[in-house]
Amino acid sequence: MSSADENDRREVRFRGVVAPTQECIAAAARALQDGHLVAFPTETVYGLGADASNDRAVAAVYDAKGRPHFNPLIVHVATIDAVRDLVVLDRRAEEVAAHFWPGALTLVLRRRADCPVSLLASAGLDTLAVRIPRQAIASALLAACRLPVAAPSANRSGRVSPTTAAHVAESLGDRPAMILDGGPCSIGLESTVVDLTGAVPTILRPGGICEEDLAAVIGPLRSMPAGGNAPRSPGMLEHHYAPEVALRMDAREVRADEALLAFGPEPLAGGALIANLSPSADLSEAAANLFAMLRRLDRPDLAGIAVMPIPNHGLGCAINDRLRRAAAPRSR
Ligand code: TXA
Ligand code: MG
Repeated sequence: MSSADENDRREVRFRGVVAPTQECIAAAARALQDGHLVAFPTETVYGLGADASNDRAVAAVYDAKGRPHFNPLIVHVATIDAVRDLVVLDRRAEEVAAHFWPGALTLVLRRRADCPVSLLASAGLDTLAVRIPRQAIASALLAACRLPVAAPSANRSGRVSPTTAAHVAESLGDRPAMILDGGPCSIGLESTVVDLTGAVPTILRPGGICEEDLAAVIGPLRSMPAGGNAPRSPGMLEHHYAPEVALRMDAREVRADEALLAFGPEPLAGGALIANLSPSADLSEAAANLFAMLRRLDRPDLAGIAVMPIPNHGLGCAINDRLRRAAAPRSR
């Protein structure tokens, strides 16, 4: 890297709400490439964007939102070719995409084997939610950064989605390096999320594109039952990624036939295989490594995975939530 490049990289500083000039969009694209967070308008709601292929940047999104668990994120790209690099598009998906993209529709599809998106962004699932937004500033930003951009709504977890730049600033303060101001969102309601991985397309979240319009193109759809005790977040769903082998939390010792998922500078000694979520006990680094390391340790030839205690604050809450789900007995 030349010294000029290094200077460019160091240049990213908090800029707050900015007008979406060409210069600012270019700076926002560079900030994303450097692993920073950028809030940007879409036609639905404002998104809190990060380079979806960068584990640490994705972890920073969960941290900024204060999410109590790792709900998978929607990945935004500029073109259908960019979508094809991430997920498997069959005939049905191509048809739906041609009708509704760019637009307020998110499709859940199977990740390609070589999908560059962080496993943390899809919360360890084999599927990925993707969308091509229509809003001009979003398109320009996605084209300029040439990255898949993970972007949940740009609000703290549990709050309503932001539809103006001021909402974002109120909710997230200086967490995004910059907030591109595109005025009020034209739709103001999140995208419709449709799962196309099964035989019958399923609406996981109603949104900007209505069921009737979808049905006219795809045919009959199923809807996830709303309200009640229905699992609204895929984090609650049975198909959520869990290791094949048993997982033991808060381990104070590790057996010779177990794998160890360590945390901190003093990993337990004695396991058959070890992965350390963060030798420096950094929860953001641990979140970034979580799903990839769980997969690496998920070895049926071993007795299970022992997990060292992880502090239950900040991103540690989401990490522990995820591990508890993975440790819970389940029917297969
Ligand atoms: O309009 C929108 O969709 C906005 C803008 C910024 O694009 N984004 C947004 O993201 O609302 P978020 O993270 O707040 O909501 C993502 C939704 C959640 O309901 C999540 O559970 C679902 O998409 N989702 C993401 N990945 C999924 C997957 N692999 N399988 C099933 N559902 C998924
Ligand atoms: Mg949201």
